[in-house]
Amino acid sequence: MDRHTLKVEERPVIRKFPSYNKPLVIGCFSLDSERNYCGDLRQLKYIQFPASSDVKFDLDLGRKHVLKKDTSRDEKLDELLRWMLQNPNDGNRVPADFVCYRGLLTMLMCTPYEKDEDWIICATKWKGTIFLCASETRRKRLKREQMTDKQKQFMSWGFKFEQYMSSDKPGRKPDVSKPVNEREEFCVVFRTKLNNHYLLFGAEVDGVKSKTQINNCSELAGAEFVELKTSRHIETVRQHHNFKRFKLIKWWGQSFLVGIRQIVCGFRDDRGTVHMLDTLEVSRLPKMVENTWDPSICMNFCDEVLSFVRHLVVEEEGPDTVWKFEWRPHEDVTAVKIPGPSEFSFLPAWFTAP
Ligand code: A3P
Ligand code: MG
Ligand code: MG
Repeated sequence: MDRHTLKVEERPVIRKFPSYNKPLVIGCFSLDSERNYCGDLRQLKYIQFPASSDVKFDLDLGRKHVLKKDTSRDEKLDELLRWMLQNPNDGNRVPADFVCYRGLLTMLMCTPYEKDEDWIICATKWKGTIFLCASETRRKRLKREQMTDKQKQFMSWGFKFEQYMSSDKPGRKPDVSKPVNEREEFCVVFRTKLNNHYLLFGAEVDGVKSKTQINNCSELAGAEFVELKTSRHIETVRQHHNFKRFKLIKWWGQSFLVGIRQIVCGFRDDRGTVHMLDTLEVSRLPKMVENTWDPSICMNFCDEVLSFVRHLVVEEEGPDTVWKFEWRPHEDVTAVKIPGPSEFSFLPAWFTAP
């Protein structure tokens, strides 16, 4: 089997920031309480700022009744593909070079600085477009299966914070009395261009800042999205350094890709009470991090990987054949072709032969 490699520099040089077009909203969909696809805005949330940033949010409130998502189920690209099938004119006016989820692009952007997590990305070319799908590595699977109760609690706190900060209608006070349903999701489909790569990607968004009701995806296009995050109170210089180096890179990448300008962070204590809110301006994050990471290295690396994928995934070899791209910290990216069907195939028959 032919193995190809893309060199990953341990100390990449800083180059010019690549061109990245303003991401355009071209569609949206919701996943309901059972994670069923709904081609509408029913899960859109409106961000509600409390009167003061000194707050007392108990993120553990009602945690016993939380409806958890089944994290062992790999949804692959299914919901995004469903959106594509149902909106043939929106996404395909100019076929995209790549279709994927935002998380995969964020992961690529963080790779030059990643020392811990490995990744596998599968690629299949279909009707001129390369579909990219992350596949869980052995290491990630073990981490998920061995998650401690404490880690599960931290995850639930993140979702509860979203409930404290948003509501279903503009101007309506958040209702934190009902159990959080972690299966619900609102997803926006964006189109943009990174250097010479046309991208179409789906991204879960936490909410919009809007005083008026948004009724359809065209109205959504003018709205301002906000990212919500939680983090432990920072008390030491070391914690501050780690926050900038490990957290802000991911927060920046995730928000920058969709053109989000503000991240609202709830700083919590060890018992899960948020005492303070802070709004971070995404454009100012790269200056705040004092050379622990560089945004142009992140974006250029993402561009390089996409070019490498395009260079190899040229032929349409059937929807079940994938190219498997693999990376581990301190190593290069490797690629092999895996004739399908295999455990890595990800384009469903209902998509390729509807
Ligand atoms: P925090 O963001 O406060 O950590 P997102 O921030 O991407 O909107 O995700 C919402 C919440 O989902 C997170 O809250 C966190 O609780 C949980 N979550 C998302 N991705 C996760 C991951 N890879 N590991 C653990 N928890 C995750
Ligand atoms: Mg989110
Ligand atoms: Mg969030």
